[in-house]
Parts: sequence; C-alpha cells; structure tokens
Amino acid sequence: MTLLSEGSIRFDINGAFYNPRMVLCRDIGVAMTKALGIREYLDALSASGIRGMRVAKEAGTEKVHLNDFDPQAVQLMQMNVARNNLDCIITGKNANVLMHQEHFQAIDLDPFGSPSPYLSAASRSARSYLFITATDTAPLCGAHLKSGIRKYMARPLRTEYHREMGARVLLGLAARELARWDKGTEPLLTHVTDHYVRTYLRLSKGAEAADRSLQSLGYMEHCNCCGSFALLAEPRPAGVCPHCRSPTTLAGPLWLGKIQEPEGITRSLEAVDLSERAKKILLTCAREVDIPFYYDHHRICEKLGITPGKIDDVILRLRSLGHQASRTHFTGLGIKTDASLLQVEEVLRENYH
Ligand SMILES: C[S@@+](CC[C@H](N)C(=O)[O-])C[C@H]1O[C@@H](n2cnc3c(N)ncnc32)[C@H](O)[C@@H]1O
Ligand SMILES: [Zn+2]
Repeated sequence: MTLLSEGSIRFDINGAFYNPRMVLCRDIGVAMTKALGIREYLDALSASGIRGMRVAKEAGTEKVHLNDFDPQAVQLMQMNVARNNLDCIITGKNANVLMHQEHFQAIDLDPFGSPSPYLSAASRSARSYLFITATDTAPLCGAHLKSGIRKYMARPLRTEYHREMGARVLLGLAARELARWDKGTEPLLTHVTDHYVRTYLRLSKGAEAADRSLQSLGYMEHCNCCGSFALLAEPRPAGVCPHCRSPTTLAGPLWLGKIQEPEGITRSLEAVDLSERAKKILLTCAREVDIPFYYDHHRICEKLGITPGKIDDVILRLRSLGHQASRTHFTGLGIKTDASLLQVEEVLRENYH
C-alpha cells in the first residue's frame, strides 16, 4: 500500500480511479465550496473519496456524502475517511438511485467522460448548487458530432473557439434538465482546462426562474470561411455569411448567457491558498468579457497576411474605441469583444501600417 497526499489529505487509491492531473480541478472545487459556505455536499461519483474528503477538511463543509457503486471503492473510502479522522457519510449506491431518493444542498458530478447520464437525477436532487465535470471533450466540442448530439441533445461545431463551444453545449443541457424540475440556472464559474470542462451552478427554485434560464438558450451561426459568427434566439436553416457570402453552419441549442460571476470567483480566490496556475485561471475567468465566443488573434492575422503583434495592444486599442475587450482563459490566443470581426480586422490592419 502506498499512501498519497493531496491537499490536506493522506489517502490510498488501491485499485480505485485517481487522476493526479485533476488536482487543480479539485483545488478550485474546494475554494468555491468554501467561498459559497456550503454545508451539505454530495460527491456522487467518489472513487477514492479524495474530492469529498478535501471538501470536508479544507472547505469545512459539515455534512459530506461520498458515494460510489463499486464495492471496492466503498471499502477504500471507509479506510481513507478513518485515516483522516473525518466524519463523512459513505454510500455504495448507483448515483442516479441515490439522487432520486434524497435531496442535497450541493451535488458534485465528476464522472468518467460525460455527465449526461446523471444530469436528470442531479437536477432533481440538488437544492442550491450543482457542480459538473465533463471529460468527453471530443463530443462536446464537435470533434465527434453524432456522439455530441446523442449525449447533449445539441449540435456542436468544431470551430477555433471549440473549447467555449463545449462549455456552452454542456451548460445548455444542464439548464434544460434543471428547467424540467422547475429550477433556474446561474453559472458562477466555468473553466475549460487541460482535457475537461468544469462548471459551478447556483440553482434557483420556481417555474419563472426556469423560464428565465431557458431564455439564455440560443443558437450560433458560424462561417467556416472567414470565421465570423452570429448569435440567434431561434434556429434557422443554414444561410450565407454576410461578410464573405460563404455558406454558414448552425450550432445549438447552446447556453448564451453569462458563464462567470466575478464577485464569487474573487471570494473563492480569497478563501484558500491556491497554486499560481489556479489563481491565474480564476483571475482570467473573473476578468473576461462575459459574452459568447472569441476571435483567434493568430487566425485573423494569418488571413490578413500580417505578423501578429501583442494581443494586449489589440485589446487596449479595441477598448479605446469604446468596445469591451479582454483576453480569455479558454486560450491564450483568444480575444473576447463586443466588436464585430470587421472591426477587429480594422484594428489589426491599422497596427501594421
Ligand atoms: C472519474 S471517477 C471519480 C473520480 C473522483 N471524483 C476523483 O476526484 O478522484 C468515477 C467513479 O464513478 C463510479 N461510478 C460510475 N458509474 C456510477 C454510478 N452509476 N453510480 C455510482 N458510481 C458510479 C466509478 O466506480 C468511479 O469510481
Ligand atoms: Zn464569412
């Protein structure tokens, strides 16, 4: 037996799933849970129990439930919880059965691949918060189109902003599942890091809140030729790009509402000590212009046949022209702005003349 350490927890993984590359995801999870003052939390798919144990110890959450349907994982969690002198409640149920039997203040879904099979039961069961990880980035981002449509009941599109596409496909399904239970969706933090999408949702009760959330759903029409895009409230047959007259493709339904809540993110930065990388992700998320999608600086420069300069200069110039503009955590090459593609191109051209 080899004991591992992560955060304040010493634990064994003996046969259970453990991915050390998800430490940052769990670090941020602890920070958000602590900042939100969550008192009851279900780690619905626990494996070794590391995620929930860290929430119990580092976020100070009083009632932490750990669940996994694998009997070996349950045994392991029991040993790990005892080893860390914690008082977590351990169950070995199918997560969907558990979430249909009981309600929890906050639920965390951290599955292998897609969270889609658990979203309905979790949407019913979660009273105030739902945290979701998805590692099936190929279906979410449009690389596996049919699988994306099956799992998320939405048509994704493989574009240069595919990482944000994945987040908005996932959020779109979550908002629809929650609406079925008369609950509204409010994203507090959404980040796409390494190979996964992660989102933190605050839920509000009532048909009106659910209806309001559904108004944040929509479609996106994208031109594969010049990279311009338009947001639409309703779907329409694939059309023609207003800039270059090439055919466009439609993606959706997608969540087109806000995906970050800067005040909450700032509180989570203050709640615990985080790694420099985690801090940088959170700060960038808190500061990014919260409107859908972004332009790829290098791709536009390539199209215009100019050498890319500093992205920050482009952002400052856009702001001086009265636009909102920022970098984005989705990619170092992205520019989030309310300026149109033509306006961004003009700024880039003027920088090189
Ligand atoms: C990706 S691992 C969880 C990793 C863990 N949250 C962590 O941070 O290390 C997914 C776990 O879900 C469990 N699982 C899969 N389907 C399940 C189900 N329907 N109900 C309960 N547990 C399930 C598996 O046994 C596995 O241990
Ligand atoms: Zn075009």
